[in-house]
Amino acid sequence: MHPGGLRLTQRAAVLAGVSCAMHVADIGCGCGASLSFLAEEYGVTGVGIDVSADMIGRARQGGAPGIDFVCCDAACYPYNEGCYDRVFCDCALSEITKPGQVLLKIRDSLRPGGKLILSDVYAKEKKTPGSQRVRAACPGACVSVRAWTKGQLIGLVTGAGFRTIVEEDHTPALVTYAAERFAAGCSGWGYVLIIAEKDCSGGKVVVGGDAVGGGDAVVGGEEVGGCKVVVGGDAVV
Ligand SMILES: C[S@@+](CC[C@H](N)C(=O)[O-])C[C@H]1O[C@@H](n2cnc3c(N)ncnc32)[C@H](O)[C@@H]1O
Repeated sequence: MHPGGLRLTQRAAVLAGVSCAMHVADIGCGCGASLSFLAEEYGVTGVGIDVSADMIGRARQGGAPGIDFVCCDAACYPYNEGCYDRVFCDCALSEITKPGQVLLKIRDSLRPGGKLILSDVYAKEKKTPGSQRVRAACPGACVSVRAWTKGQLIGLVTGAGFRTIVEEDHTPALVTYAAERFAAGCSGWGYVLIIAEKDCSGGKVVVGGDAVGGGDAVVGGEEVGGCKVVVGGDAVV
């Protein structure tokens, strides 16, 4: 479960206008708690995707009607273009191998006007380089996460063809999460909720050469999550 738990999921669902009959994906769904909650509370249907067979096994045990769980890498997950109304990605993008590529897939899989609901950790100070993963002193010391700053994370999202409509800081939820699970502090780290709409206003996302996530990241002159992204214009990936 992510910092903020189902309380944050509920808040995100309200802010993102989740409603009955929506078709929803959860990328890096873990044991599926968020998606099952959304199915029970809102009546959504959808798919949870996680690379861990163990997590997907647990998710299937606690699943809700209309919800499927698929074990695969987020970079390879199957979808039809424009098939989802909302895509959630909680506390997972920073772990995913090719975050930029996954964001482009999410964008393709959303219908026009569809929304990405993303929450993740960020480093309060820029680490060098932003694309590097760090283990030490990260909130969940069991995994390695990318040490991107909030600005870099937002740049990655907008560079992949989204327009951010909500940016809320939930660092206190991360402090509680770390204290409860790891008996460790997490100074230097924050947690942010971003809700972003698929940008269909004509902004161009150009894909060529290396897939996103494979090269260096440049956002306003900074490196981001291992992706080549130019923000403020077209995203070049
Ligand atoms: C911190 S957990 C968050 C789980 C869930 N989103 C939640 O909020 O409870 C991160 C999850 O991302 C998954 N993950 C990491 N890399 C992935 C990838 N490349 N593709 C799909 N899932 C991935 C992990 O297996 C893990 O279950």
